[in-house]
Amino acid sequence: MLDGTAVVHDLQKLRDEGHLSDALLRTAVKQINKADPRYDWVGVYLFNADKDELWLHNYVGAPTEHAKIPVGTGVCGTAVAEKANQIVDDVTAIDNYLACDPDVRSEIVVLIRAGDEIFGQIDIDSSEEKAFTEEDEKELSAIADKLAEQIAAERR
Ligand code: SME
Repeated sequence: MLDGTAVVHDLQKLRDEGHLSDALLRTAVKQINKADPRYDWVGVYLFNADKDELWLHNYVGAPTEHAKIPVGTGVCGTAVAEKANQIVDDVTAIDNYLACDPDVRSEIVVLIRAGDEIFGQIDIDSSEEKAFTEEDEKELSAIADKLAEQIAAERR
């Protein structure tokens, strides 16, 4: 099970050492992927407000063709359009889904945000159906908040 507090601690250490969001985003993805065997594909998308698209920043797992996703498209784009995290128990049961890998059964998207301002999202796919719970969302949200803190600091 993912321990969000431990990852947040490591991310804060990177911040204290002066590392920028690029390093934090890569570290977060690697640590999340290692934390739980259900997390088959883990990536971060950043929101490009000018283009109204999500751009893939970094990931661990099978290569994906979805490097850019328009807001409103797929589970990822829906999260931004609705400004809400998404948990999809069975991806084969929804229409607005962008398939990366035929083995994927469930997906979670947790937004990286400061209030209403969306910076991006953590996206995880699992080959298990119903792999994600509110507990995953809680741990991932703690990590997303720390990432948002650094991204916001760089935009000031
Ligand atoms: N399944 C996502 C697309 C991204 S891949 O999972 C890497 C979606 O429906 O938005």
